[in-house]
Amino acid sequence: MADPRVIVALDYPDADSALAFAARVAPAHCRLKVGMELFTAAGPGVVSSLVSRGFDVFLDLKYHDIPTTVARACAQAAELGVWMLNVHALGGKKMLLAAREAVERSKHRPFLIGVTLLTSHGEDDLADIGWGPGATGHVARLATLVHAAGLDGVVCSPRETVELRRRFGRDFLLVTPGVRPAGAATDDQSRTRTPAEAMADGSDYLVIGRPITRAPDPVSALAAINREIETA
Ligand code: C5P
Repeated sequence: MADPRVIVALDYPDADSALAFAARVAPAHCRLKVGMELFTAAGPGVVSSLVSRGFDVFLDLKYHDIPTTVARACAQAAELGVWMLNVHALGGKKMLLAAREAVERSKHRPFLIGVTLLTSHGEDDLADIGWGPGATGHVARLATLVHAAGLDGVVCSPRETVELRRRFGRDFLLVTPGVRPAGAATDDQSRTRTPAEAMADGSDYLVIGRPITRAPDPVSALAAINREIETA
């Protein structure tokens, strides 16, 4: 598989566990995501180690701060040689533009994508933060903001990809967590789809963590998902 579609979420508490997983797979099988837990525990060193092993790394820190701070963080992330990084769409237009300009100035321009709504958010969570019902409408509004700011795509639920693909066309990257093979535990995700459904609905990349990393045999779990995607 020359262009793997699975991005494995390396949600581990230390660099050793993450590097042990990376040692069992190859860049041809998957891309890798470093999120808050691993980055907070192990720092940028683990990102550099994975990049130096040839993996495309998605740095998932969902930056959300004033425009200058986010731009400077994006510039530092790009320096690490990551393949993709993200900012939160709720940071607003000025922040999104500042982030885009920062990555465009970097030597190895990574993909920059915006987070719309967390895939764990259900209608009750939206009510708790004072938003009206209808996750789809909120996602479409935030994705429009991200697209207008010239970012490369969004992180969204696989349930939203059909509509976003229709609105923004082929070149806008749709990166979807909340993917669960049939029969797998949903954990704390709420708006889920299977890998085959997510690809058929227009996802470019599937972010999958626990169904692979917590499986008794993570390598076979990844291989099974790759087979499901190829036949989809
Ligand atoms: O284990 P699981 O497959 O649920 O992991 C999903 C990963 O995607 C986690 O690392 C989570 O932080 C991330 N993510 C998400 N929803 C978003 C953005 C990122 O679940 N909107």
